[in-house]
Amino acid sequence: MTTPPTGLEDAVVGRQDISFLDGEQGRLLYRGYNIDDLAAHAHYEEVVYLLWYGQLPTPAQLDDFRAELAAAGQLPAPLAEFVRSLPADAHPMAVLRTGVSLLGLLDRDKPAFERAAVLPKARAILATIPALMACFWRHRQDLPPIDPRPELGHAAGFLWQLTGRQPAAEAVAALNLYFVLLADLELNASAFACRVTAATWADVYAAVVSGVSALSGPAHGGAVQEIMGQLADIGRAENVDDWLAAAMRDKRRVMGVGHRVFKVIDPRAPHLKARVRALAGQSAQRRWFEIATALEDRLAEHLFFQQRRLYPNVDYYAAPLLSMLGLEPDMFTTIFAMSRAAGWAAHIMHQYQHNRLITPRAEYTGPLDLPWLPLEER
Ligand code: ACO
Repeated sequence: MTTPPTGLEDAVVGRQDISFLDGEQGRLLYRGYNIDDLAAHAHYEEVVYLLWYGQLPTPAQLDDFRAELAAAGQLPAPLAEFVRSLPADAHPMAVLRTGVSLLGLLDRDKPAFERAAVLPKARAILATIPALMACFWRHRQDLPPIDPRPELGHAAGFLWQLTGRQPAAEAVAALNLYFVLLADLELNASAFACRVTAATWADVYAAVVSGVSALSGPAHGGAVQEIMGQLADIGRAENVDDWLAAAMRDKRRVMGVGHRVFKVIDPRAPHLKARVRALAGQSAQRRWFEIATALEDRLAEHLFFQQRRLYPNVDYYAAPLLSMLGLEPDMFTTIFAMSRAAGWAAHIMHQYQHNRLITPRAEYTGPLDLPWLPLEER
């Protein structure tokens, strides 16, 4: 039995044609299209179509696809009731995990695994997540939910459902960019979790619940929540040196830094950095940008981070960006999921299409053949 490296680092465990990742060159492509081009030009809905259908949509295809997504965006009544029953301090990722599970429970269709049967369910999941999280965000503030405006699309529609106000064009563009950049990343931990569940012929909702669960931890999507705490803890750009020295002394990890695959700067981070700089302007929130760039510069000069090739990952500038959009840190990972649901669904459909049960082995390191001891002799 050969044992792959811990954490399956660099182990290639399957084939897929959804996204291409080169950690040494800092390249990410969705279905062959470079993330830089997609960041510059694409609407999130185009990217979802690309991930699910393997090609960019024509204008007519995009219109139809947007209409299908919009038709799925009304929060089912039992989900709205579920949200009303929740304590305001429930963690939004727990709300999301349970909400997707409830959506699955409400779907009375027999499980089916052909693309044509899975696509409407994938659309329902993708369209429900923003409505669910906006409903919960408002519930926390004792505000009633707001009906969707289907013509607005994923980014603007979510911002509308948060506040009931027409969102500013810069905010929509920033959230659209974030959604485009986060939509997929090869076999990251949450996509892998989705595939493991899908490979047992569990339904798409069960597979997405696995993805949400895997995303929630701070080594993966949960990091983005902690980054705002880190920036607040540093307080001012002038404090970065002292803060970093203390973090190193206490062996604390710098959140938003390091990546299992990217050993150069994460190609998504500069896009978010530029957008945060633009959004920050001269606002009070500019402080977050200044602290983040000062820390990034310090890490680049630091031998420990140089030797281990640790650079800002996508979450690093995502946190100030989402804060500038008016969101609270504990909501951030659900915004990540709002985008990544597209990649999860693409991986789940691919898994169903080429399925074989995923069951690796684990080397046993314990004792063998111990003699049985009766209870009274232990
Ligand atoms: N701060 C300080 N040191 C770090 C960091 C960090 N953020 N990340 C890794 N290291 C160090 C480790 O201490 C270790 O040092 P050592 O060789 O002296 O023991 C070395 O770098 C390798 O670390 P591993 O944990 O083995 O690397 P791995 O590939 O398993 O971890 C991970 C990747 C989990 C992302 C890690 O870099 C980390 O914890 N980062 C902070 C959390 C974070 O930002 N997560 C989001 C990831 S991106 C995403 O999911 C969207």
